[in-house]
Amino acid sequence: MDKIVGDYLGKSIISIEQFGRPDIEILFEEANRLQTVTERGLCYPYQDGRILTNLFYESSTRTSSSFAAAMQRLGGGVIPINDVTYSSVSKGENLADTVRTLAQFSDAIVLRHPEQGSAQIAAEYSDKPIINGGDGIGEHPTQALLDLYTIQREQGTLDNLRVALVGDLKHGRTVHSLAQLLMGYGATLTYVAPEGFEMPSELVKRVAEARCEQVVVSDITDAVVDQDVIYVTRVQAERMGGRSDLHGRNALKKLQDGYRITPDVMEHAPETSTLMHPLPRVGEIDMAVDKDPRAAYFRQVQNGLYIRMALLNLVLGKVIDRV
Ligand code: NCD
Repeated sequence: MDKIVGDYLGKSIISIEQFGRPDIEILFEEANRLQTVTERGLCYPYQDGRILTNLFYESSTRTSSSFAAAMQRLGGGVIPINDVTYSSVSKGENLADTVRTLAQFSDAIVLRHPEQGSAQIAAEYSDKPIINGGDGIGEHPTQALLDLYTIQREQGTLDNLRVALVGDLKHGRTVHSLAQLLMGYGATLTYVAPEGFEMPSELVKRVAEARCEQVVVSDITDAVVDQDVIYVTRVQAERMGGRSDLHGRNALKKLQDGYRITPDVMEHAPETSTLMHPLPRVGEIDMAVDKDPRAAYFRQVQNGLYIRMALLNLVLGKVIDRV
């Protein structure tokens, strides 16, 4: 896995581990520029003639459509493969052949796949950059980058923030990537998870090694009182595999009710806090909270467009430098 170290060109984006702070600054600068340009109603064909393949073995609304929108706004084309029937790729074989095929006629491939490590396997076989759009319970680096970008825009800084990560911290790949990213900015992380859904110990160890404080709180109202950012996630029902006790709506609802964000809970959160969610939500943030100005989840979606446009420009390079 190649580190970025100031140069994104031609590199696969697999994990947050590839990024240093200067790399993130480069990305955010490009995203800011593209946002300004796009909001002025302009669209420069930086990716004219290029093709991105969206290869999705798991369902997606935001990641696939925002990558498609990003590529098209930059003048490129998209091959959308959204309904791949999942067959075993434990040896990497099927996936390897698929990405090698798609790499023949596209300039980059966004891959979402149910197996952890699949993006790395794909990158080993593809001679075009692979962008990890979520690999099982592993990582979701582009989501974490847009989350961090949102935090910067909402909070005005990234340093020494208090961030609560709430929900299914065991299976949630977005929190796995975001926690690693926040480690580089001296964040204090507060974890609120139902029993059995805690942050993996390996990640807790890594965060501790980065000398970031970690706190575990069980009551959501207690947890929000001094947070700058409250980042909520859903229970990943599709990853429950063997746990038949957790199948069914009632079992899931019971888990979510333990940390449900309501207007009452938000009364305890600071006026200056930011409420985030990678979406989709399935009840863990009450819709009555949406009109609260601290609710940033749809601004988060919008920011994802600019981060993904920026990433495509940096990884693929621009066919024109400036119009
Ligand atoms: C997330 C994912 O796929 O991990 N969705 C997204 O990309 N915004 C979160 C989720 O599905 O819960």
